[in-house]
Amino acid sequence: MTPPLVLGVLGSGKGSNFAAIAEAIADGWLNAKVGLVVTDVPDAGILRLAAAHGVPAVHLPPGRFKTKLEPESEQLLARSLQDAGVELVVLAGYMRLLKEPMVTAFPRRIINIHPSLLPKFPGLAAWQQALEAGESETGCTVHYVDLGMDTGPMIAQESVPVLPGDTAETLHTRIQQAEHRLYPQVIADLAARRATFLA
Ligand code: GAR
Repeated sequence: MTPPLVLGVLGSGKGSNFAAIAEAIADGWLNAKVGLVVTDVPDAGILRLAAAHGVPAVHLPPGRFKTKLEPESEQLLARSLQDAGVELVVLAGYMRLLKEPMVTAFPRRIINIHPSLLPKFPGLAAWQQALEAGESETGCTVHYVDLGMDTGPMIAQESVPVLPGDTAETLHTRIQQAEHRLYPQVIADLAARRATFLA
């Protein structure tokens, strides 16, 4: 039997994508194990969800920047993930840009989920951007992470209709339902071709 792919999940928020991944593992169709959850927000919901799933989790103070990590913090992040044996870094609502040394420490082994059909609407509150632009369709994208903001090669997308009467909240809820299907499936596909993916 192929060994489980060891994931490091990074999140800044409520952690619903982490929960979807943890449930797919528990249900037996995602051959992975979460080695570590890391957050930059001390009271993030993802910490409570990690505890509920019995997954080790740490709060790593980000330093003085708002959109990225202090270099020392990013060093510590890379080392913590490596010490936990992490093979794939999964950004699940992690609201900071990764730079060096993370992108070098995990080449093509960092993935992100974003709540729009990239390259449309990178950045914050992408569902709100889609609504304000009058789109009839939006969705979510899983992509490899590079040094840009919500850039990097695309892996998969799922589209979501924008319905009459949608508010930012109803649209984001529907996009998140798509995220919770798409993200565990993409990780399961990577885990299934673990040997070539990690080569
Ligand atoms: C998700 O909708 C995710 O797509 C978004 O943050 C939310 C986190 O929710 N990420 C971004 O906007 C990244 N640019 P969660 O904490 O419930 O998983």
